[in-house]
Amino acid sequence: MRRWWKRLFYAGGIALFIGSASLTTYCAWNVYMYSGVGEEKTLAKAKDTYHFVLVPEELDNDYWRLVEKGAKAAARELDVDLEYIGPRQANIDEHLRILKKAAAAKVDGIITQGLTEVEFVPVINEIVDKNIPVLTIDTDAPTSRRVGYIGTDNYYAGFIAGRALVEDTQGMVNVAIITGSLTAVHQQQRVRGFRDAVKNEKRIRIVAVEESHITRVQAAEKTYTILKKHPEVNAFYGTSALDAIGIARVVEQFHREQETYIIGFDTLPETIEYLQKGTIEATVVQEPYEMGYRAVKMMADIVAGHDVPAITNTETKVIRKEDLPLRPARNYEVKTP
Ligand code: BGC
Repeated sequence: MRRWWKRLFYAGGIALFIGSASLTTYCAWNVYMYSGVGEEKTLAKAKDTYHFVLVPEELDNDYWRLVEKGAKAAARELDVDLEYIGPRQANIDEHLRILKKAAAAKVDGIITQGLTEVEFVPVINEIVDKNIPVLTIDTDAPTSRRVGYIGTDNYYAGFIAGRALVEDTQGMVNVAIITGSLTAVHQQQRVRGFRDAVKNEKRIRIVAVEESHITRVQAAEKTYTILKKHPEVNAFYGTSALDAIGIARVVEQFHREQETYIIGFDTLPETIEYLQKGTIEATVVQEPYEMGYRAVKMMADIVAGHDVPAITNTETKVIRKEDLPLRPARNYEVKTP
């Protein structure tokens, strides 16, 4: 009897040992499995976070900072990564090099301008061949395989600038045009639209077209040279964001602001100040914040497999002093750094 109890006791002990050992193994397996699954989840999450790149023609430019702000706001909302990289100062070779580098890094989408057909179309197509979607912003490259364009209708913007000059002036007008670039497509369209709008007006003559390389300083230098060479000039048209600011400075130095009509582009703070003062008479409004915001949203739609329109034009209009203060555009974070 005692031996029987002894056997039972040992058998129970062994069973208990085997039981607890299997429990431990089971728990350890679970812990291992759990961490394994966790890892997979992290990887899957990392893959879900898309990486988009926005390459503007010039980083150090207040107009592009507004585009960046809009793009970053959309990226925050969508929880995607957005990198804002480009030449510090406008430089086409560097711009193209950065685009190729972004493509080599296999980002999920690229947003950029199509500044010139000859240089940008092949690079955009090369990127699209690598299965990276491209959206053009601000300046389109319609002959490329970019998925879509978002921004101003640049010909129309130039045309309404020309119509504004016709409406706001009387008598003989000798116009000098300062354009950001003689070779960039959107700047050419803004000049062409303007020329078409004034071409049937005998009293309006375009006497000079000069290039500012989208800098205030060169816009000012060119204005100085024009006023020296063509003292008959009594109107200026600046086709990129900083041109009218450079023009206004020099026109004030020449004390010609009373008899000179200036129409520019964009609504940067300095432009608004000159408009308020009356040195600049009118400016063409673009929506850089909206362009950036909508481009990122559109890129997210593209990578999710949705169709997007080939062309989305943001609002463009001419404003004058009486239209101030400007109503902030949707999502426009005026005071945030
Ligand atoms: C144009 C941009 C350009 C900027 C330069 C804007 O009017 O839309 O393409 O880079 O001016 O300041």
